[in-house]
This record gives sequence, structure tokens and C-alpha cells, in this order.
Amino acid sequence: TLHYFLSLDSSNKTALELTRRESGHGHLIIAEHQVAGRGRRGRAWVSPFGENIYFSLIWSFQSGLAALEGLSLAVGLALARTLSKAGVSGVGLKWPNDVLIEHKKVAGILLELSGEAGGVCQVVIGVGVNVEMQDQMGQITQPWCSLRPYLPEGYGRNRLLADLLQELVAVLQVFQREGFVAVKQEWMSFSVHQGLAVRLQAGEQCTEGVMVGLTDTGGLRVATEQGEEVFHGGEVSVRAL
Ligand code: BTN
Repeated sequence: TLHYFLSLDSSNKTALELTRRESGHGHLIIAEHQVAGRGRRGRAWVSPFGENIYFSLIWSFQSGLAALEGLSLAVGLALARTLSKAGVSGVGLKWPNDVLIEHKKVAGILLELSGEAGGVCQVVIGVGVNVEMQDQMGQITQPWCSLRPYLPEGYGRNRLLADLLQELVAVLQVFQREGFVAVKQEWMSFSVHQGLAVRLQAGEQCTEGVMVGLTDTGGLRVATEQGEEVFHGGEVSVRAL
């Protein structure tokens, strides 16, 4: 079911409210503008009117929470695959789920758990794509870019949204059946940090090492002076050194 809005606080917030009223699966909330767009780690997602894409998809998984560890990476892969198939070059993924073009962030993903009951997890998958961002540079605190200059002539926003949703549903179905491991190699083919020195920040704690790959469930494997360490999503941020 498609729920289309001109303006919302946040499509994730609206999706979470919907899941509290009914046990939906496959609902899609789209907004042209968000007053209080939510980003990862408590940040805001700048969401002006224009050509950008803001949507939240409600998806139910017949599995416990532990099986969903690599889900946000799988969603990132669906975005990267879509852009790549559209002919965009320089597409990359930064663990856990930033989508980059030439090392600048073009899209973000925010997963929010609506509930877990009887072995079923209901998740809100929020996606924001900077298709054509104007005059917001001062508000965004990391390198970013708009997608428009990289898209082929005539490849419009509606086509992009349709292609994105098609890849997303395909990846979600594979993830449901086989887990993250089924798309791990493809994810790695987009990884911008593989084999590079990185710094990981988790609150006050900082670790340096070399990214050596991912676990089968999407954890980040880093070779440090103390040996290999595995990091899990949540509050960890990663930067190249
Ligand atoms: C990030 O910080 O990288 C995640 C950004 C996620 C933004 C999207 S826009 C649609 C959905 N609704 C929200 O409030 N946030 C997500």
C-alpha cells in the first residue's frame, strides 16, 4: 500500500505509528518534504522540498532480532546496485550503510524496529536519497553530493524510485531466505575501505586498524595491533585514516 504525503515530520515516524495501529507488511510511506527527518546516531536528515527521495518501507521478518544484523547493509547494497545499474560510476558503500559517489554521501538508511512478537520482527526501513539538493550545504556536516549530475539524461526521479524499490524488495527476499551472506560478496565489491587503514569511533572509544572484510552477518572485521576485532553496527562510525 502506498501512502503519499506532501509533508511529514518524518516518514519513519509515520511508519512506526502505522505499525502501532495495524500489523502491516509492505506499506510504503513517501514524503516530498520532512520537517524533522531522522538520521543515524540521533542526527537530523536535511529533507527540503525538491527532487529528493524520502521513503519508509514497513517489512515483517519471520525471524528473531539476531537474524537481522546485516539487514541495513543489505539495504545499502540494494541502493548501490540500483545506482550502478542506472549507469552511475564511482558508487561505493561505507560500512555499515552509507551510499557514496566518489566518496561523498548521496543516500542514507535508518532502520527502526517497530516490534518483535512471536518470532516476527516488524522493521521500518527508512531511505533518503539526495537527488538534487540545493543550498543546504551549511547544515550537512560530512562530504555529500547530489545524484542528479551522475544520472543519465532522462532518468527521472520516479524511475529511480521504482528501480530502487524493485531492487530493495529483491534483496529483502534474498536476505529473508538466505541471510546477509548471500549478498556479502556483492557488498564487498562496493566497499570503499577494504584493505585500508581505518579509525572506528564508538562513543569515547577509538580503535585503529585495517579493514579486512565482513563477517557472514555483516560485522566489520578489522585487523588491529591486538589481533582481529569485529565491530557491529549501532553507534560505531568508521573513517579512513
Ligand atoms: C543517515 O543518517 O544516514 C540515515 C538517514 C535516513 C533518512 C531517511 S529519509 C526517509 C526516512 N525518514 C526519516 O526520518 N529518516 C529516513
